[in-house]
Amino acid sequence: MLDSKKIALITGANKGIGFEIARQLGAQGINVLVGTRDQTRGDEAARRLQSEGIDASAVHLDVTDQVTIDRAASFIDKTYGKLDILVNNAGISLREGRVPPSELDIEVYRKTYETNVFGVFAVTKAMLPLLRRSNGGRIVNLSSPVGSLTLNSDPASFYAQMPPLLAYCSSKTAVNAITVFFANERSRRLPYSSAGGHAAGGVCHLTCRWADRWIFRGRWCSSLVRVWFLRAGTTLVTCAMR
Ligand SMILES: NC(=O)c1ccc[n+]([C@@H]2O[C@H](COP(=O)([O-])OP(=O)(O)OC[C@H]3O[C@@H](n4cnc5c(N)ncnc54)[C@H](OP(=O)(O)O)[C@@H]3O)[C@@H](O)[C@H]2O)c1
Repeated sequence: MLDSKKIALITGANKGIGFEIARQLGAQGINVLVGTRDQTRGDEAARRLQSEGIDASAVHLDVTDQVTIDRAASFIDKTYGKLDILVNNAGISLREGRVPPSELDIEVYRKTYETNVFGVFAVTKAMLPLLRRSNGGRIVNLSSPVGSLTLNSDPASFYAQMPPLLAYCSSKTAVNAITVFFANERSRRLPYSSAGGHAAGGVCHLTCRWADRWIFRGRWCSSLVRVWFLRAGTTLVTCAMR
């Protein structure tokens, strides 16, 4: 049942930045699916959005659990037949990971990657067939300046002065790589991207400088959030949110 109304799935949208993205996409008339690893928290978030007149519902999706990812994809397929926007927002920064690299426990490192890196990859892969059915599918990956190797290698950079959180920071470096490699695959028109005759999802990268400012100010900022898209060198702005 293809519908002209846009459908967006945001992972980890029951709170924080994901919830705000859901709220602002919903305010634009987009049907938002609140990805959540806890159904109760997701239902509560969806109810809050509905109370603002937003078309929202919770979808159980733990990005580290392939069964829930596949179930979510199957649900979206049966219910909407497509997906227009995927926002890979779910992310963790474990307290135990806030130590110098030499003291980092490998299990903490692995756990961080399970969510922040493999979670992004697994959800993207599962949703690509649905995004290809959209007339203008988009993928937004939440990264951070702390993932920039350029900034971290520059001794004068603010980010190089921050505690060296190898697990979290390098997971965002990997997210940047995932974003660029998917974008390159798309732009080179490798076989998957032409399936179905529609444009596959352009891959984009949301820089989180604004998100950082929100946190530093201790409140949500309602000013324009810019989404920069990497797609064959073209800037596509379809997700500007107010
Ligand atoms: N806050 C910042 O300053 C900042 C800066 C740059 C980038 N970012 C990135 O922005 C994204 C959101 O950050 P935030 O500050 O809003 O974080 P947050 O408030 O801690 O929210 C994270 C969300 O991700 C969910 N989540 C965690 N693990 C999950 C899993 N395995 N499956 C599904 N959902 C999961 C959480 O669910 P639960 O409620 O169940 O825990 C929560 O809904 C993250 O990717 C983060 O790295 C944040």
